[in-house]
Amino acid sequence: MPFESSPQSHDLIEYANLGVGKRYFIITFGCQMNENDSEVTAGLLESIGYSAAACPNEADLIIINTCAVRRKPEDKVAGLLGKLKALKNEKRDLLIAVGGCMSQQEEVASYISKRFPHVNLVYGTYSLPRLPELLQQAARQRGTIVDIEARPDSREGLPIRRSSSFKAWLPVIYGCNNFCSYCIVPHVRGRERSRPLEEIVAEARTLAGQGYLEITLLGQNVNSYGLDRAAGYDFSDLLVELEKVEGLARIRFMTSHPKDLSPKLIETMRTSQKICEHLHLPVQAGSNRILKRMNRRYTREHYLALVAAIREAIPGIALTTDIIVGFPGETEADFEETLSLVEAVRYDNAFTFLYSPRRGTAAASLAETLTHREKEERLQRLVDIQNPISLEINQALVGQTVEVLVEGPSKNNHELLTGRTRTNKLVHFKAPACPPGSLVEIEITEARTFNLFGKLRDVEKH
Ligand code: SAH
Ligand code: SF4
Ligand code: F3S
Repeated sequence: MPFESSPQSHDLIEYANLGVGKRYFIITFGCQMNENDSEVTAGLLESIGYSAAACPNEADLIIINTCAVRRKPEDKVAGLLGKLKALKNEKRDLLIAVGGCMSQQEEVASYISKRFPHVNLVYGTYSLPRLPELLQQAARQRGTIVDIEARPDSREGLPIRRSSSFKAWLPVIYGCNNFCSYCIVPHVRGRERSRPLEEIVAEARTLAGQGYLEITLLGQNVNSYGLDRAAGYDFSDLLVELEKVEGLARIRFMTSHPKDLSPKLIETMRTSQKICEHLHLPVQAGSNRILKRMNRRYTREHYLALVAAIREAIPGIALTTDIIVGFPGETEADFEETLSLVEAVRYDNAFTFLYSPRRGTAAASLAETLTHREKEERLQRLVDIQNPISLEINQALVGQTVEVLVEGPSKNNHELLTGRTRTNKLVHFKAPACPPGSLVEIEITEARTFNLFGKLRDVEKH
């Protein structure tokens, strides 16, 4: 798989032999931004001699890339670190490093170093470019090294080992300025930093040249792209430039904040050939009172009008969302407004979460008004409304022929292949010899709530 390297740009040469003969294993939690960070981590490690291990037991270096957005992924990391102690006892030279969003929180970093002294390195989201240097220190020193300083952290020119050879993540803006009251992300990822447009377009061209067909532009709120640079361009302008990159077949992006999704962006999506007909538009809650307490800065009415405008411009677009259940002070009436919004919008899919207080956020000082069980009951009611809608929308696709980008053998049934539609739906289908990365036409024959089944029409296009 493609490996781009330019060690000179970040003085990696100094550490060029650090990993020779050694193997690494990376465990990733959290969002696509973290997945992309893990690809950069792998690229960095390989540029200093490391090679990939097939499992943690075979590794000389284990890196855990953490997520702090809810308590659950944090608990999983604590469990994992406990288990790794035995491995470290067997293999004294094993290096264990904990990076990412959890580590960036001061209290967590110091908790990890005290509670899990077998961890060699705790490094934050700003420290990724310094990883080789930090690993060298960690290998020489006893105890846990902690590096969580917020410093300028340009990623330009860092090597990357991508996990796919036909679809790629492309970060366009790092950080977040929105401070939704429940959210830890702005606290651990810092303020918005847009990458220069020319660099993103150059990277997209390189990817297309390597045979990549699909790019997904990443940002906590892609709609703020460019505004911090005051360079006179915005997210729509970036999309227009990327549309011109020859060889790319599909452009995706996430996430869009409803308060900033502009008519200009809708128009850009409408006229584009490559931007996929899918929009992830997190609503979080259906009640204006709760939206206000969440500091989302839009109303239910604004959101519904936005959905109507998008559907009018791009008929058949798939809409997905994120919803938090059980925010402090959420009454039964508030929750019913979430249910009625879900019924009104008819999402293709909704990612639903129980509210999880995060230390340091504004909402953490609000007393929780619901028990865990009450939150779970509400979540179940929400899922019971959403799932039949997802199924109905999918059933309407039966008989239609759709373009699918082949990903590989289906996880549960190796006689089937799996791929995604432009609307980002997972399709399992029977087909002879379609290599991963081909674009094929699939006739949908069966619909389920979370995926579709189909058969090959004819191999074509690329
Ligand atoms: N930037 C993206 C979201 C990043 S976090 C956006 O604004 O949409 C992904 C999702 O996790 C959020 O959309 C939200 O639904 C959920 N989430 C964030 N903080 C949470 C918390 N404290 N408790 C429960 N869910 C949370
Ligand atoms: Fe969190 Fe809100 Fe920023 Fe999304 S927009 S990352 S939910 S603060
Ligand atoms: Fe992503 Fe989790 Fe960090 S959602 S930005 S990995 S807190």
